[in-house]
Amino acid sequence: MIKKGIILAGGMGTRMSPLTKAVNKQLLPLYDKPLIFYPLSVLMLAGIKKILIIVNKGQLHQFKKVLPENNNLGITIQYKEQVKPGGLPEAFTIGESFIKKDKVALILGDNFFYGQSLTNILKKNITLKSGAKIFIHPVKKPHLYGVATIGKNKKVLKLIEKPKKTKSNLAVTGLYFFDNKVIEYTKRLKPSKRGELEIIDLLNIYKNKKKLSADLIGRGGSWLDTGSIKDFYSASNFISTIEERQGLKIACLEEIALNKNWINKNNIKNSISFYGNCNYSDYLKSLINV
Ligand code: DAU
Repeated sequence: MIKKGIILAGGMGTRMSPLTKAVNKQLLPLYDKPLIFYPLSVLMLAGIKKILIIVNKGQLHQFKKVLPENNNLGITIQYKEQVKPGGLPEAFTIGESFIKKDKVALILGDNFFYGQSLTNILKKNITLKSGAKIFIHPVKKPHLYGVATIGKNKKVLKLIEKPKKTKSNLAVTGLYFFDNKVIEYTKRLKPSKRGELEIIDLLNIYKNKKKLSADLIGRGGSWLDTGSIKDFYSASNFISTIEERQGLKIACLEEIALNKNWINKNNIKNSISFYGNCNYSDYLKSLINV
């Protein structure tokens, strides 16, 4: 069972400059919440209560301002800084003292997942005993992502980072489950040509040891890109459409915690005072009938 999760929320956000000049990308609004709420909600939906958020050096105060107190979400959030974006696997060396001897989930701070199948997929895979698990999703432009070639029984045959040409349309999404070997394997990695440690190289170590498996987030689920400004606004529109139609919020952290019985009405009231008089607070009020 995986009980710990890391959100990697650093990076320069250069593709979204000048929006990201002063503000970390993960704090930009994706419709009615900061982007970081969405990956955090995924870890919470998976039942993970111990969370490490890795942020850029000097940006910690920005995150602390945005996220409510730990105890009002029924989880513990620790923070660590990444000095410069040295690649996704750095999450496991920066997070070594947080992971200790446990297994760990990693989610990239700019990844948005949604869909009825999601909770089931998370529940099914959170019981990981050993090895690593990736979550793949069909996309029109696979060359923008890590791409997986999958054989029978979802066997991972090949993994390539942003290939110029590929026959597979299956992107490797930014959610990964790992056993504790991930720390040792990360320490073996060498920077790629672009000077970063690569998540695909790490996953290939597991694959070569026959310890990597994949699960499919099919067309009933959504994994949306927030890479470019255009994608960011499309994702925002998607969330607004669903929320306006259903009257239900996507990634309301308190709602997830309440449904899991991690918090009570008083915690929600504390969150309402934290957020102030806003639409999100109105939604929280409706959850506790005040
Ligand atoms: O989104 C899924 C894709 O994410 C995967 O398909 C790719 O295999 C994987 O390499 C990654 O590709 P990106 O090009 O999207 O990664 P990017 O450098 O944009 O970083 C993703 C997030 O991680 C972003 O929120 C910034 C954060 N980050 C990134 C790096 C390299 C950090 O916090 N620290 C880092 O050192």
